[in-house]
Amino acid sequence: MNDVKRVAILGTGTMGPGMGAVMARAGMEVTLFDVKPEALEKAAATVSLAEGVLDRLEVPVAGGGSVSYESDRAASLKGADVVCEAIPEQLELKRQVLSEVEDEISAEAIIASNTSGIPVTKIAEGMRHPERFIGWHWSNPPHLIPMNEIIPGEQTAPEVTAATEELTRRIGYHPVTLKKEVPGFVENRVLYAIMRECLALLDEGVMDAEGIDLCVKWGIGYKLAVIPPIHLLDMAGLDIYTSVASYLNSDLSNEAGVSSTATGLKDQGRLGIKTGGGFFDYTPEQIKELGAARAAALVGVRKVLS
Ligand SMILES: NC(=O)c1ccc[n+]([C@@H]2O[C@H](COP(=O)([O-])OP(=O)(O)OC[C@H]3O[C@@H](n4cnc5c(N)ncnc54)[C@H](O)[C@@H]3O)[C@@H](O)[C@H]2O)c1
Repeated sequence: MNDVKRVAILGTGTMGPGMGAVMARAGMEVTLFDVKPEALEKAAATVSLAEGVLDRLEVPVAGGGSVSYESDRAASLKGADVVCEAIPEQLELKRQVLSEVEDEISAEAIIASNTSGIPVTKIAEGMRHPERFIGWHWSNPPHLIPMNEIIPGEQTAPEVTAATEELTRRIGYHPVTLKKEVPGFVENRVLYAIMRECLALLDEGVMDAEGIDLCVKWGIGYKLAVIPPIHLLDMAGLDIYTSVASYLNSDLSNEAGVSSTATGLKDQGRLGIKTGGGFFDYTPEQIKELGAARAAALVGVRKVLS
């Protein structure tokens, strides 16, 4: 979709600013809007950080792109070819905002939702033009993970799906399109399957948290970045896989509830990095160092893989 010139992003929390930086780099005029002035102020700093990461990744600058900040929604939407919402994951809020936005944009504009898992068809209920609405799911951090899931709803027009795929390629990312809607889409289904098994092993006392992370990082994570799972099946051999899976699958966690260890920590207020501790403890200095070290490692790995 090379004729996309103007993009409006609604919501400048964790996701919006990085998405904007990536699209501006690809030559689009991006306007960021948020209902909270303080979120909009913070967004400028996040966009600068994201631009620094894009420099380190050596992402080419297409020219003509820009990021601006707008506290008036109608002004942010003016002339937009694409509107991306990255507002909180609440069905009613998304529905209400998008139905209002429909009246404030041109008839040709595409509306995309960065929802992590609310069915796109459900969000579209009540829209006057659901055919131009689509799920465009970025992974966090959005300026670093070069893959977007594309989720057409039941009424999304095929041209809108094709245009979103093209737009994703234009920003240098890999588009992956779902053929039908499933809760959590694909990325989070696979991630949550991994996390469920890890937490079951922890809950059953098979290994401690440190050990599980080491095992997954070096035994699985590092390898999967180079040889993804379906290719790994071909590499391992389907005779081996079917034989192991025939006894192992029935032993794997199919827990429908939530891990008791994770729930217990949450109930104690140990939510993770944001509260200084979850499974592990973090000092403010460690949190800073960890953020920088992780961003640097992701930059390095992505450069090797691309
Ligand atoms: N955080 C993640 O890791 C992640 C990853 C992929 C997708 N997502 C999805 O992206 C969306 C945004 O997530 P986030 O983590 O950036 O949320 P967030 O809570 O960090 O930010 C949301 C922002 O939206 C603003 N907002 C609230 N109502 C608004 C409105 N009516 N109009 C404009 N702005 C409004 C808030 O002030 C806030 O700044 C959600 O749907 C989420 O599920 C999040």
